[in-house]
Amino acid sequence: MLRVDSLEPRLIEALQPIRGFAFATTLYHFFETGLFDCLRDSELALGELAERHGMDPARLEALLSFLQNEGILKQHEGRYGLTARGLGLEDFRGWYTMLVGGYGQTFLQMGERLQRGSPPATRDAARVGVGSCAISYFDAIPLTRSLMARIPGNPNRLLDLGCGNALYLAEFCTALPQVEAWGVEPDPEGYQAAVRVVRSRGLESRIRLTCSTALDFFRVVDTTYRPDFIVLGFVLHELLGQGGEAAVLELLRGATERFQGVHLIVIEVDQQMNNPRVMRHGLAMAYYNAYYLLHPFTQQRLETRAFWDDLFARAGLEVLARQDVDPSVDSTGLEVGYLLRKKS
Ligand SMILES: C[S@@+](CC[C@H](N)C(=O)[O-])C[C@H]1O[C@@H](n2cnc3c(N)ncnc32)[C@H](O)[C@@H]1O
Repeated sequence: MLRVDSLEPRLIEALQPIRGFAFATTLYHFFETGLFDCLRDSELALGELAERHGMDPARLEALLSFLQNEGILKQHEGRYGLTARGLGLEDFRGWYTMLVGGYGQTFLQMGERLQRGSPPATRDAARVGVGSCAISYFDAIPLTRSLMARIPGNPNRLLDLGCGNALYLAEFCTALPQVEAWGVEPDPEGYQAAVRVVRSRGLESRIRLTCSTALDFFRVVDTTYRPDFIVLGFVLHELLGQGGEAAVLELLRGATERFQGVHLIVIEVDQQMNNPRVMRHGLAMAYYNAYYLLHPFTQQRLETRAFWDDLFARAGLEVLARQDVDPSVDSTGLEVGYLLRKKS
């Protein structure tokens, strides 16, 4: 028979994943509802906070108390404010948008979607795109800029296929005033978010947007726009899951045949889920383990570097450069950027 005094320490340890689940979900809502931004700017009493956001005071108090117990909020003379730890989370909200807002429903559906023949699990595609763009600010955008710098001449015209909420494009155009861009996003909500981002930054004259899949863009949209380079940031594995190698080959060949001399910048995550040496890394367990898990459930297919090297060669492309993310951001070596061009 189990002795109660020996159960409790094991129970506490066994419940840590549930604590993490409630904590991650609460933080996601804390960001998404605007409460985080509000408390970053000023310390407020429960009543004021509830009033400003039109929230139920009893429910809001439970959320605030939970976050206070987790060390995210502090309370002084009845006013709530962020702790240093809470403030420090701001940079990382994109991970919460993508993994909780975008894929929270996916994780909850996993059991039934393990069944052979069951359809893919759902996800909130707009939040996946928005979160991914926010994460890209730290990893993929600097990587893209670094690869772009290797393109000869003066590459100014960019086509971003699968642009999410266009944050990526907006950052580019803000940092590089000579750049003009076209963003293509198939998810209607993601596309609407992109329209809002472009408008709010006053970039309508430099960024055009189309709601379309990458393949339909080439099949249907008739344009005289001639991009110097095309960015595919975490999009080829979506296409690979949707239409297999044939779809990716059609896109890569179609793009490089239609636009002579165009360069491609592709960013992908190396599939190393079964490599114990890689998966020992702190960031591999904090992020990539969950990231790898959700892909086969949502009709996405991550692949290895060797796979992409082979597919690019079959598409008639040469790899001009292959680069990892800045190791001070991510030293797993799992995120890789390629600069490609049609083999001459
Ligand atoms: C992981 S997000 C990446 C967003 C952005 N490119 C970035 O680097 O952060 C993948 C994006 O690809 C889009 N996508 C999915 N299938 C696509 C397709 N067939 N053609 C173009 N984009 C697609 C999704 O809607 C989503 O916005």
